[in-house]
Amino acid sequence: MKNDYRPVIHFTAEKNWINDPNGTVYINGEYHLFFQHYPHGNEWGPMYWGHAVSADLLHWEHKPIALSPDSLGYIFSGSAVLDKENVSGFGTAEKPPLVVFYTNHDGDTAKEVQSIAYSTDYENFKKYEKNPVVVSESKKDFRDPKVFYNPVRNGYSMALAAGNEIEFYFSANLKDWEKTGTFEAGIHGFGGTCECPDLLCFDSEEGQKWVLLMSMLLPEDKVGKPLCEGGYFMRHVMQYYIGEFDGDTFRDTVRNEVPLLPDFGPDNYAAVSFSNLEEKIIIGWGENWAYAGDTPSTAFRGKMTLARSLDLIKTEQGFRLSAKPCGLERYRVCGEEIKDGYELETSVFGIRAEGKGKIRLYNENGEELSVEIGNESISLDRSRAGRKDFNEKFAKEECEKFTAPLFTKEGCKAEIIFDTAFIEVFAEDGLIAMSASVYPEKPYSRIGADGDIRLRFYRIE
Ligand code: FRU
Repeated sequence: MKNDYRPVIHFTAEKNWINDPNGTVYINGEYHLFFQHYPHGNEWGPMYWGHAVSADLLHWEHKPIALSPDSLGYIFSGSAVLDKENVSGFGTAEKPPLVVFYTNHDGDTAKEVQSIAYSTDYENFKKYEKNPVVVSESKKDFRDPKVFYNPVRNGYSMALAAGNEIEFYFSANLKDWEKTGTFEAGIHGFGGTCECPDLLCFDSEEGQKWVLLMSMLLPEDKVGKPLCEGGYFMRHVMQYYIGEFDGDTFRDTVRNEVPLLPDFGPDNYAAVSFSNLEEKIIIGWGENWAYAGDTPSTAFRGKMTLARSLDLIKTEQGFRLSAKPCGLERYRVCGEEIKDGYELETSVFGIRAEGKGKIRLYNENGEELSVEIGNESISLDRSRAGRKDFNEKFAKEECEKFTAPLFTKEGCKAEIIFDTAFIEVFAEDGLIAMSASVYPEKPYSRIGADGDIRLRFYRIE
């Protein structure tokens, strides 16, 4: 059988290219995932919104393409709101419209404006005749609208990536928008070109806190240098800020000395949350722009991470997001204890680990992917995990090993989810998440355990 590296419980397009998740929304028991998609090739191209739905966030049903490029440009990333009160007038109270917000990117001039479309069957969309709805006089990078309910002003706000800033807009009807504020990234945290912002409200043990999550394109001179806790060396990274939202703008009032990372691995970008849901569930693109165009799968290219449920936790080092993978409970109950050398009969599984030591996934070709839990840190090493020849950057040293500092010093509980060509590690109750793609020539056939570490294995289907 040809190993095309297609994962089982991670979303991929039936064919061709995908990048960012878009318009993520929960409606009547179904999670809708729209996504950046080029249906005519396995490389990035004029962007469409693809569409899929899932009941469990692990198995997805493909739907027809939702939005195609038009005279205003390609359809870049954005979000969705189920307009239950029909404030937009695009539906009726009985048939509340799903309103989606996206960036039109002009393929020739690179000009970016924000547009909307709507649907009452949540599958076929009509573009608003008065598009665009938000424009900028001066900003070139001006994209990825994330619209959310604004409880302070009882309307809707939009967080928009605008150069090095996140701009906020307000609307009562989802169609007419006025600018209300600006947050500059990089005064604390990483600076650079912002992409795909999301603003989330948490009830923490110190009351309500808002978290501004975003993806960043770092300036060239930062690349390849250790940048924060654990070090991080890639050009594209996600980060988050913690603070307050007064209804007009966000302020990062809860500061940290170093930038905060929702994922310490290289392959999680542009993650955003599902709207119309109390629980904060995000899903990201499980790739990195550094090499996403060259990965050695052919029929499809690009996958999503697992969906993760977020919480805001107070640690000794201050507030941190925790992330837990969704939908795995029913597989975990069938877990069994395993020993060093355990023979694998599947390439989709979870491992729960406790203690200190190294967990290795390996095959007879001598390929090995490892996760090491030490005294101070946890690290993921893909230096010998499989193919690296497909892209120069992927083969570089800074793309091989990823480390995160442990928050608690007394032992560590971690969970590894492996699916064909993608590993996700969650440690210390989700305070640490790490995602990485690997391309073994042959599936890993055994699990190794070195050190004082106990493992429980479970299959996922
Ligand atoms: C992030 C991103 C977005 C943009 C989209 C284009 O990965 O660059 O900012 O909308 O991808 O496909």
